[in-house]
Amino acid sequence: MNETELVKIAIEARQEAYAPYSGFGVGTAILCEDGRVFTGANVENAVYGLSLCAERVAATKAVSEGCRRFKSIAIIADGPTPCPPCGACRQFLAEFGVETLVIMANTNGDVRKAKLKDLLPLAFTKEQFLNE
Ligand code: THU
Repeated sequence: MNETELVKIAIEARQEAYAPYSGFGVGTAILCEDGRVFTGANVENAVYGLSLCAERVAATKAVSEGCRRFKSIAIIADGPTPCPPCGACRQFLAEFGVETLVIMANTNGDVRKAKLKDLLPLAFTKEQFLNE
């Protein structure tokens, strides 16, 4: 699975975004270390604060199916620049690997890549308090 393929899967996933309030559909695809891919799209709610970002939808699907380590995540939306994950999603994803490659994209074909640890310096992780 290469990066272009992962972005393509995220584009497909975006079609299922439920974003009637913002009108901003986001799609994601997470490649796990065991080779499995999990997709996500944002799911909004009439109580706006309950809305879920696409990244956390995909991450929750992956973890609840047994994947604990993420190799990479592709994120795509129809914005002027490649779609970066929000701060809350950076923290959520860091739980499953700060080395994760984040592939940000938009529908114009612009792509930007960064390691999660560079998007969230000094991340608070379980290593702070667990002796693993
Ligand atoms: N959103 C995501 O799903 N992922 C991001 O990386 C940025 C924002 C969603 C949340 C909300 O449904 C909509 O985009 C507008 O903020």
